[in-house]
Amino acid sequence: MNFKGQVAVVTGGATGIGRAIALKLADKGASVMIADINEEAAAQTAAEVKEVSGKSAVFVTDVTDLEACNGLVEATTELLGAVDILVNNAGIAGSAGWQTRSYSTEEDWKQTYQVNVIGMSNITAAFQPQMIKKRSGRIVNIASIAGREGRPSLPHYSASKAAVISLTQSIALELARFNITMNAICPGLLWTPMWEQIGDRYAYDMPAYEGMNPREVFDAMIAEKIPMQKEQTPEDIADTVAFFVSDDAKNITGQALNVDGGFFMR
Ligand SMILES: NC(=O)c1ccc[n+]([C@@H]2O[C@H](COP(=O)([O-])OP(=O)(O)OC[C@H]3O[C@@H](n4cnc5c(N)ncnc54)[C@H](O)[C@@H]3O)[C@@H](O)[C@H]2O)c1
Repeated sequence: MNFKGQVAVVTGGATGIGRAIALKLADKGASVMIADINEEAAAQTAAEVKEVSGKSAVFVTDVTDLEACNGLVEATTELLGAVDILVNNAGIAGSAGWQTRSYSTEEDWKQTYQVNVIGMSNITAAFQPQMIKKRSGRIVNIASIAGREGRPSLPHYSASKAAVISLTQSIALELARFNITMNAICPGLLWTPMWEQIGDRYAYDMPAYEGMNPREVFDAMIAEKIPMQKEQTPEDIADTVAFFVSDDAKNITGQALNVDGGFFMR
């Protein structure tokens, strides 16, 4: 696996899973643009990427803002070159304060859909013309096992991730004839800033987890739900991204792959 000379963009690349994806692609030789709303953390990750592959840049991007997405295409092309690999990873679990409410508000539904689904569509639409022109491209969308089946306490998030799996199939069909693949990954349980919020919500909402801190909720869920009895890591997801964008996966498109220690077997 060698991505030397290739240019990758990772949305939400500043922290958690996105950061690990950026470092993995850099480790295999790619130049990586970090596109995130968190400028400080993005700059930190870009500095780490530079140490690995030599080339990285940051473009402060809110994926819900189509103009910013078009600006990201321009900045990436100018600073690093035309894009070969796009990883749509940016995501949120709800609107401010969602973790201490026992129901999903209209804002939870709107904001989560806006970032997780429309944001993904915005970025893809922005980079698509460049990839179509080159007749090549690899796109990976980060969905979730929450998109495989309705999950308690976060219906707005589950529904948004089911939409990501559907979006992946539809756009993969549209782009296949241009030699562009699009696949999704459904991560299981990963201890990132996002899961700290989810743990708070479960402790707030579910009697089984009452009084636990987020990490205790997380550990209890690993024991209950994960057949392999271990948490997944950002690096597990990064390894799977690297596979999907490698030559080994040239004939795979429109798929959604669970990386979840066996939580869901479908
Ligand atoms: N942590 C898990 O267990 C888990 C499980 C399944 C799926 N996921 C998915 O993985 C992806 C990464 O999540 P994570 O766990 O690393 O969480 P995280 O909160 O650490 O990372 C999310 C990143 O997205 C960025 N972001 C948020 N809104 C944005 C916007 N509007 N525009 C640009 N960037 C934005 C944040 O600044 C942050 O850097 C998300 O799509 C999430 O839904 C996470």
